[in-house]
Amino acid sequence: MYHFTLPTFPLAGKSVLVRVDYNVPLHKGKVAGVKRKQLENEVTLVADTRRILATLPTLRYLLEKNCKIILATHIGRPEGKIVPELSTRLLVPALQELFPRRKIVWLNDCIGEEVRKKISEGSSKEIFLLENLRFYKEEEKNNAFFAHALAHLAEVCVNDAFAVSHREHASVHALTKYLPSVAGFLLEKELGELSKALHPKKPAVWIMGGAKLNKLSLMLQAFKKADRILVGGALAFAFLKARGFSTGMSKTDRDSVRQAKRILKKSFSRKIVLPKDFVVADTFSSTAKTHIVPANNIQTNQVGLDIGPETITLFEKYLRQAKTIVWNGPLGYYEWVKFAGATKAIGKFMGTLDSTYVTSIAGGGETAEALEKFHLVHNFTHVSTGGGAALEFLSGEKLPGITALEKNFRRWSGKVKIKS
Ligand code: 3PG
Repeated sequence: MYHFTLPTFPLAGKSVLVRVDYNVPLHKGKVAGVKRKQLENEVTLVADTRRILATLPTLRYLLEKNCKIILATHIGRPEGKIVPELSTRLLVPALQELFPRRKIVWLNDCIGEEVRKKISEGSSKEIFLLENLRFYKEEEKNNAFFAHALAHLAEVCVNDAFAVSHREHASVHALTKYLPSVAGFLLEKELGELSKALHPKKPAVWIMGGAKLNKLSLMLQAFKKADRILVGGALAFAFLKARGFSTGMSKTDRDSVRQAKRILKKSFSRKIVLPKDFVVADTFSSTAKTHIVPANNIQTNQVGLDIGPETITLFEKYLRQAKTIVWNGPLGYYEWVKFAGATKAIGKFMGTLDSTYVTSIAGGGETAEALEKFHLVHNFTHVSTGGGAALEFLSGEKLPGITALEKNFRRWSGKVKIKS
C-alpha cells in the first residue's frame, strides 16, 4: 500500500476535513415548484452535479462511521479575492437536497477561530461547508501557515479531489504534512481506472481531439501505449497541414504544425489515423451552411468543424477491434448541433461494445462535458471527473496531491494503527 485507504483507516467518530473538487459550473435559474411571484430573483444553481455526486460514496461512508464532515473546495479562480459569485454558499441547496436528513452548515470563512469553534460545537448530524479556499491566495501558494490553519479544524483529512490533485496547493499538498491523510473512494477509483489506460489490454486505441493543441506530452504517451491513435478535432488540422494539405480557415497554430511535422517523421507515426473527410462551414457560425468534403479538398474559404461520416465509419472499425479505448477531446465543435455529429456518434457507438471485454476511459474537461451533454456517460467504463488532472495523469506525470498522500503514509504509518 502507498497511501492510507478509507476501509483500513480508523475513522469512527472523528472530525474529518474532506477536500473535494466542487469546482462545478453554476448558472442562474428557477427553483422547480416555486411560483414566479414568490421568486424575487433567480437563484444560482449547479448546472452539472457530476463532481458532487461522485463524492457521495466517500461522504456516505464517513456518515456511517459517525464522522463529523467538514467539506473544503475551491470554485473558479478568484485569485485570493472574495468573489460572491464564487462562494460555496451557492452549493448549499444542491448539497441539502442530497442529504435531507443532515443540516448543511455553511461557514463564511475556511480558517480561523470562529470557524473552528462552530465546528467543534457541532455534531455529526451536520455537514460543514467551508468558504471557497481560493479566497485566500495562500491556498494556491501552498502556504504552510494556511495549511496548518486548515489542519486545525479536523483530526483527519480525506483527499477526494482527484480533479485538483495536479495542483501543488495547500489543501491537497501542504495540509498532508499536518494531518494523517487518507485517499477517498473517488480518488481511488480515478487512479484505478485511469491506470488501466497506462497498462492497457491490447489492442489499445486512443481517440484524440479537442480544441486545444497543446497536447504533445499526451500524444507521446499515446504513441507508447496505443496501437492506433484516431485523431479528430483541431489536432487533425495540424497533421493535415504538416502533410501539406490546405486546411482553409480551420483552427491551427504554427507551433502545433511544427510539432506535427516532427512527429510525422518518426516511424511510430504510422499509428496515427487521420480523418478522411470533414464537415466544413462557410463561416464560423452555428447556422452556417455546411458541406462534407474529402480531407484533401478543404477550400480556402471553408472552416472544418467536425469529422465526416466516412471517418466515423473508419474510426468505428478500429474501435471494434480494441480492448482498451482512451478518449480525450471531442471530435468536432460539439457546442453547436451541426458539428456535434461525430462526438455523439462515437459516444453512442461505445454503448454497443461489450463492456466485459472492452475498457473505455474518457478524460479531460471538454470530453466529460460533451458526454454529459449528450447523456452518453453510461456508455463508458469510466469518465474522469478530472480535466487537467486526468490529462496529466494519462501523460504519465506524477500528481503532487498523490505524491503528498504517499509521503503522508510514510510519515504516519508507524503512528496510526491501520486495520488489516
Ligand atoms: C478543474 O476544474 O480542472 C479543477 O478544479 C482545477 O481547477 P484549476 O484549473 O482552476 O486549478
